[in-house]
Amino acid sequence: MLIDQGDLAGALSLLDQTRELAPDWVDLIVLTGETQARLGLRDEAVASFRRYLGLSDADRHGAMLHLALLGAAPAPDMTQTPYVRALFDDFSDRFDRSLLQDLAYRGPALAAELIGTGGPDGLGSVLDLGCGTGLVGERLRVHCAWLDGIDLSDGMLEKARAKKIYDGLYQGDVAAFLFDPPRLYDWIVAVDVLNYVGALDQVMTGLGLALRSGGRAVFTVEALDTSGAAEREVMRLLPTLRYGHSAEYVRAMAAAARLTVLDQRTEVLRLEAGKPLSAHVFTVQRPADGAVVAAGSGELDPEPRISS
Ligand SMILES: C[S@@+](CC[C@H](N)C(=O)[O-])C[C@H]1O[C@@H](n2cnc3c(N)ncnc32)[C@H](O)[C@@H]1O
Repeated sequence: MLIDQGDLAGALSLLDQTRELAPDWVDLIVLTGETQARLGLRDEAVASFRRYLGLSDADRHGAMLHLALLGAAPAPDMTQTPYVRALFDDFSDRFDRSLLQDLAYRGPALAAELIGTGGPDGLGSVLDLGCGTGLVGERLRVHCAWLDGIDLSDGMLEKARAKKIYDGLYQGDVAAFLFDPPRLYDWIVAVDVLNYVGALDQVMTGLGLALRSGGRAVFTVEALDTSGAAEREVMRLLPTLRYGHSAEYVRAMAAAARLTVLDQRTEVLRLEAGKPLSAHVFTVQRPADGAVVAAGSGELDPEPRISS
């Protein structure tokens, strides 16, 4: 309550007192670290997150990401940490209500509008990458001959399964799935997912592998505000523990994977702390006779600069 009211110093004092009673309570240690970081107590925050890592078998709370934000560790590969999975397992019961009612989530509607109905033959085979609870799938189902979904979180997949709208549901990482898909797709959609991924070279290459020739993909990235930032900044780990990407970076990664950008727009995706959150929304296409090329091997620096 004190944190919600903005009384961070009061909250920290209470957290310190509580930790005296329960020194190894990991949730409390993470909350302490977050509060210290927000108060600018960097060294104390770093010590808290390190203490958490020392006590935990797995980094479910994203302590490595916090350490990266504090400049005390390199940014970890988010797809390899248990953090995202744990985050959405915990969130799955509240996800639909929270996103649709509280956060004015527009992602599924935006994707449905861009993808359309596919005409008399429908959309064909469709893959929902990072399908979550199925909010995007619900919009597209009626137009799909086949609809697959893939997600990291079992909790989210359970909700999607209960809706009975997917022909196939898979648990795993988006890039790994795209490199070994069970079929080729006419459409692939990834809404509000790639901001949990970071570097996009693998995903762009994977889109080229999992799309049929001429197939299309619609995806969002959280728009990185590059004003005032270093010239070549292409993505940034944000205080929200998600990544922002520049549109220029996405275009370069798509081009390196020989995907044609058909459409690019910037839209309000949802609210974040009561303010509009902007996303770049891309529609790309695998050329009709397009060979598959690995993104990152072409004109772009294979080690894009990540700042945190
Ligand atoms: C904000 S939710 C969006 C869900 C859905 N696309 C929608 O628009 O309602 C993000 C989802 O992406 C999944 N996710 C994040 N990173 C992933 C990854 N590397 N591989 C697979 N799923 C991932 C999460 O588990 C979560 O369900």
